[in-house]
Amino acid sequence: MTIYGHGIRTLGVLGSGQMGLGIAYVAALRAKVPVLLHDRSSAQIQKGLALMDRLLEKDVAKGKIKAEEAKEARDRVSVVPPEKGMSGLQDVDMVIEAVSESLPLKQAIFGSLAADLPPSTILASNTSSISITKIAASTIPEGHSASSKEGLQSPSRVVGLHFFNPVPVMKLVELISGLQTSQETMERAKAFAMACGKEVTSSQDVPGFVSNALLMPFINEAIMCLEKGIATRDDIDKTLKLGMNHPMGPLQLADFIGLDTCLAIQQTLYQGTGDSKYRPSILLERMVDAQWLGKKSGKGFYDYSDA
Ligand code: 3HC
Repeated sequence: MTIYGHGIRTLGVLGSGQMGLGIAYVAALRAKVPVLLHDRSSAQIQKGLALMDRLLEKDVAKGKIKAEEAKEARDRVSVVPPEKGMSGLQDVDMVIEAVSESLPLKQAIFGSLAADLPPSTILASNTSSISITKIAASTIPEGHSASSKEGLQSPSRVVGLHFFNPVPVMKLVELISGLQTSQETMERAKAFAMACGKEVTSSQDVPGFVSNALLMPFINEAIMCLEKGIATRDDIDKTLKLGMNHPMGPLQLADFIGLDTCLAIQQTLYQGTGDSKYRPSILLERMVDAQWLGKKSGKGFYDYSDA
């Protein structure tokens, strides 16, 4: 039996928001691999790199890493500018996609990645809830059937690698196999997550996987408690923080994850299972309609306009 190491000499990260940037950070600092960061927005890339600089500086100031280590990690990260497109990721051994939670968007991205990149490149998604099997099917080359050699080979390199926010701090990565994912892809992706300093759990490809099938009903129930006037925002969060030792209450955590992301995951759970227990609360829907998206937009259940 072959045992695979990760064999990743260069990593591509697609999306430089809080998740993509965090993944680039742990890959460059902990796994010590060169990272090519790509986003369709130059402004977002600049924002991401500025955050990385701040995180590295903070770790040096706290004595967690040496200044040379921070410099080496930063030097490992380079940018593939928007105008170059995804073909700028040609030479990487694995891409981790971390764009927003939209199936059509991810299908379009994985279709292009499969067409532009060599067949040996592992294509991983940081999706929080979307089916890896569906994403993998979008890599079947045009004109080939799912049962042809090409139709079987391309989806076999697609895998779910679900990181948690803030990526530099949270110790877990959830590994998800699509129906088509090969054992080699699974083992290499797992070895890479471990090289990034993470512990790995495995989940079947069900809506929300293990993590969000458990977390999102909890957050939704907290929002419904607020909606029904059962308790105030502060008392709901305080109950969970002081009564159950959660580091954040569920409403603060929802703000932290992003209310649009919470809603997208809840919709995937509800539509994917048909189970009414996953129906998103109306209050959550209205807050997203109002563009109150939590910490990133300055307003959610809490106010962050000064942050
Ligand atoms: N990036 C990097 N490091 C960060 C950070 C960030 N965004 N935010 C905080 N940290 C670091 C701090 O620098 C500090 O490091 P130190 O121990 O070396 O000094 C450490 O985290 C603790 O930070 P603070 O003292 O400032 O604050 P807290 O003690 O309140 O911790 C927290 C902050 C780690 C975010 C903590 O509140 C927490 O664990 N909250 C819950 C987070 C959580 O549940 N995440 C999962 C969300 S679900 C998800 O991501 C899945 C998706 O699919 C929805």
